[in-house]
Amino acid sequence: MTSPASSAAPKPTKDPWDLPDVSGLTVGVLGGTGDQGRGLAYRLARAGQQVIIGSRAAERAQQAADELGHGVEGAENAECARRSDIVIVAVPWDGHAKTLEALREDLRGKLVVDCVNPLGFDKKGAYALKPEEGSAAQQAEALLPESRVTAAFHHLSAVLLSDPEVEEIETDVMVLGEVRADCETVQALAERIPGMRGVFAGRLRNAHQVESLVANLISVNRRYKAHAGVRLTDI
Ligand SMILES: NC(=O)c1ccc[n+]([C@@H]2O[C@H](COP(=O)([O-])OP(=O)(O)OC[C@H]3O[C@@H](n4cnc5c(N)ncnc54)[C@H](OP(=O)(O)O)[C@@H]3O)[C@@H](O)[C@H]2O)c1
Repeated sequence: MTSPASSAAPKPTKDPWDLPDVSGLTVGVLGGTGDQGRGLAYRLARAGQQVIIGSRAAERAQQAADELGHGVEGAENAECARRSDIVIVAVPWDGHAKTLEALREDLRGKLVVDCVNPLGFDKKGAYALKPEEGSAAQQAEALLPESRVTAAFHHLSAVLLSDPEVEEIETDVMVLGEVRADCETVQALAERIPGMRGVFAGRLRNAHQVESLVANLISVNRRYKAHAGVRLTDI
């Protein structure tokens, strides 16, 4: 008979750094012809990941894929979404809602990674916008009820990502989401890129701060002429 004490024994806690093997997953990048999407596609493909660049125009996607090499493929956004296991959203904030609404069916069941930073710019510099839903990631969650939405890769420099001379990008990638296993998959994806560490950073209701921090990083970059990233200490 099981004693009350043994049945109440705490479950062994999982090591938070124990992440799944994601090397066999195909990663699609919506808006992958742009600076951020192209940079992420390049880094992931260089690490051996199968990557499909998405675009509103198949020819533009194919051209970007040909330029990147490393087995990167190109497709129109909807096909890119359908053929991928993980889909990174790397379109401008202006086109975010419209793009996701149109791809709802293609993104059904997919692990979506939103890296969009809603920012405004004026003569004082960059500032955070306040989306009605709370954040770009929460807008994605609202528009894609049948997808698994996470948020990550907000603080990366597209310049560093795309520079073939840069071997390692020393930075942490804050990953947010509602389902721990989905976050771990995205953390593992970040860690495919040398120098990067994927760190769980909470639920999507706290994505706004993470997206907004880019306005501060832009100020840092202007002041110090740098491509600053983020490191979290004591973990
Ligand atoms: N740049 C960075 O360093 C950086 C870093 C972290 C996060 N981000 C985030 O990543 C996202 C992309 O940034 P980016 O600098 O790569 O932007 P971008 O170059 O302006 O746009 C990316 C791609 O999105 C597509 N696109 C443009 N307007 C669109 C619209 N209205 N609707 C749908 N698709 C549209 C275009 O591809 P097609 O014309 O081929 O469809 C374009 O090449 C942004 O939301 C940004 O906040 C950027």
